[in-house]
Amino acid sequence: MNAFQAPKGTYDLLPPDSAAFLAVRTAIAAPLRTAGYGYVETPAFEHVELFARGVGESTDIVTKEMYAFSTKGGTDLALRPEGTASVLRAALEANLHKAGNLPVKLWYSGSYYRYERPQKGRYRQFSQVGAEAIGAEDPALDAELIILADQAYRSLGLREFRILLNSLGDKECRPVYREALQGFLRGLDLDEETLRRAEINPLRVLDDKRADVQKQLVGAPLLRDYLCDACKAYHEEVRALLTAAGVAFEDDAKLVRGLDYYTRTTFEFVHDGLGSQSAVGGGGRYDGLSEMIGGPALPSVGWALGVDRTVLALEAEGVVLDVPSATDVYAVPLGEEARRVLFGVVTRLREEGVATDFSYGGKGLKGAMKNANRSGARYALVAGERDLAEGVLQLKDMESGEQRPVALDAVVETVKAALA
Ligand code: HAM
Repeated sequence: MNAFQAPKGTYDLLPPDSAAFLAVRTAIAAPLRTAGYGYVETPAFEHVELFARGVGESTDIVTKEMYAFSTKGGTDLALRPEGTASVLRAALEANLHKAGNLPVKLWYSGSYYRYERPQKGRYRQFSQVGAEAIGAEDPALDAELIILADQAYRSLGLREFRILLNSLGDKECRPVYREALQGFLRGLDLDEETLRRAEINPLRVLDDKRADVQKQLVGAPLLRDYLCDACKAYHEEVRALLTAAGVAFEDDAKLVRGLDYYTRTTFEFVHDGLGSQSAVGGGGRYDGLSEMIGGPALPSVGWALGVDRTVLALEAEGVVLDVPSATDVYAVPLGEEARRVLFGVVTRLREEGVATDFSYGGKGLKGAMKNANRSGARYALVAGERDLAEGVLQLKDMESGEQRPVALDAVVETVKAALA
């Protein structure tokens, strides 16, 4: 172990790249804020039981990928592998669903943890922005969430993403399908582990990435053909609302998700420039989750978009975000008196919202101007003894190199006007 190395599967976000990361988070959240979603934050760890019951005892996430541990006090906890179970737990605990305003709409942003085999786009700590609409069964809500994600990606300039849509049925029709699928899978030439999976969670087998398995799955029964009338009508309405909104999607009858709580609508956002880790986001309806974790019946729907993969998708498309410069003005004092005066100017400029930095450490003009250049500032404010004696500062345009004196008592207004 090297103490100066981030743990395997993690990475640091550092300037200047971190600015794009932050901009992606903000851009994903923006449409949610205009659609009535309130911000929620939950702990980074929860009782392990919440995820075991919520995400599913037989999922890879729970059986293989969870950072679970016992505390010194003997409590079994796990770092959160996802946000939905936590957000629903928090809403139930605070009785938000009883306030008479359903659905409860919440959005969140944070780090999640899965002990996966790291590769490009797959990390052990990753970042999601998510949204959950709790306590309403309405196809317009499913459509709303898909439209908001589409808006978020588009606002960032992403174009090469696709929306895959499916319905996983409900407690009426899924068991019938499950049995049919199991019957089909039992007749295939599968290894022991896959056969076991077929008994516990047959839908997951459809998601097997191995070519020899996929070849055998060609004639597998599809849930689409087993949906009950209510699920079929619900799904058609979601599709119609998306079409009316001009949001393109692809029906994907084999789309299954890696979490067990889904019912009816499920969707994934995939980006074709990302190789094997192509899902930039995913979600769906989870009408039974509340009851699974001990709450009342609360049909709900939500999604989470992966921030790390969205940043990679932007890179793959060559989209450079228009991130505002960290520094607009860089102040360069020459001498003690100038340092005191300019430091005051810097504080006033910042109060006025102008991003301003200062040459610290008593550097000479040459070194300080080099730093001003590196900062990306549009202007430098330079002052020496002679300038102060004349009651001025020098305002230097870092692009053209032009410099002009500005009266000290008018400097804040002048700089703001120059930047406008
Ligand atoms: P998920 O599909 O497991 O869904 O994760 C959502 C997104 O998080 C993925 O599409 C991907 O972009 C990102 N992601 C997941 N694992 C990793 C990883 N190891 N490294 C990098 N990015 C990753 C959920 O988490 C559900 N809670 C979504 C949801 C909300 N469903 C209903 N409401």
